[in-house]
Amino acid sequence: MKIQGCLFDMDGVVVDTAKHHYVAWKSLANELAIPFTKSDNDALKDLSRLDRLERILRSGNLEVSSKTKIELMEKKNQLYLQIIDTLGPGDIRPGVKELMLELRNEGVGLCLCSSSKNAASILKSIGVFNLFDGIVDGNNLTLPKPDPEVFIKGSKLLGLTPSVCIVFEDAQSGIEAARSGGFFALGIGAEGSLNNAHANVQDLAHMTLDKLQALVDSHESN
Ligand code: BG6
Ligand code: MG
Repeated sequence: MKIQGCLFDMDGVVVDTAKHHYVAWKSLANELAIPFTKSDNDALKDLSRLDRLERILRSGNLEVSSKTKIELMEKKNQLYLQIIDTLGPGDIRPGVKELMLELRNEGVGLCLCSSSKNAASILKSIGVFNLFDGIVDGNNLTLPKPDPEVFIKGSKLLGLTPSVCIVFEDAQSGIEAARSGGFFALGIGAEGSLNNAHANVQDLAHMTLDKLQALVDSHESN
């Protein structure tokens, strides 16, 4: 397969936001008197905003109405927005912008495929919004990862079939979503931290189109 499209997850792939989500969720958990540690946060990093809130509430044996859930999510998000207001071009993960520029030069389509509803403002703050040909984010989705909806919509935006697209993902649910949608799944993170990826790299530092193509080719020849 010749790579024609690249679909990027955002949080943990393009930019490290886990620590900022943690501070905002921790503040909400404190208000609710629910213990919430960094490792609790890591265990929830794959989940949508609502799923995260529900897991935190459940861990504190708290039951609240749907209206209160919306208010709590809004409260968390307002704090998160204040924190990420400080993000700038220095917060892009290593190698990501350089790779995107090369892929664009080579005519490869680029789409952001994230569950976050804050994707557009984050991408603008770090200066890569205009490098994407398309953006699918939490505002356009009905089903969270591991459903493949986000990536299927992304490949459609690029006018491509999943079979010619690579997905870059740091979360297990995203790898499952990519696999079930028929994409080549490149895991981003420590070796062995993601199951089922077609290939794995620590991060995208020094990544090039040739190296990506070699990963795809070597998987196909196995
Ligand atoms: C995902 C993150 O990209 O977006 C999750 O990995 C997060 O941790 C989800 O919960 C929703 O993000 P947001 O910015 O809409 O609250
Ligand atoms: Mg992620």
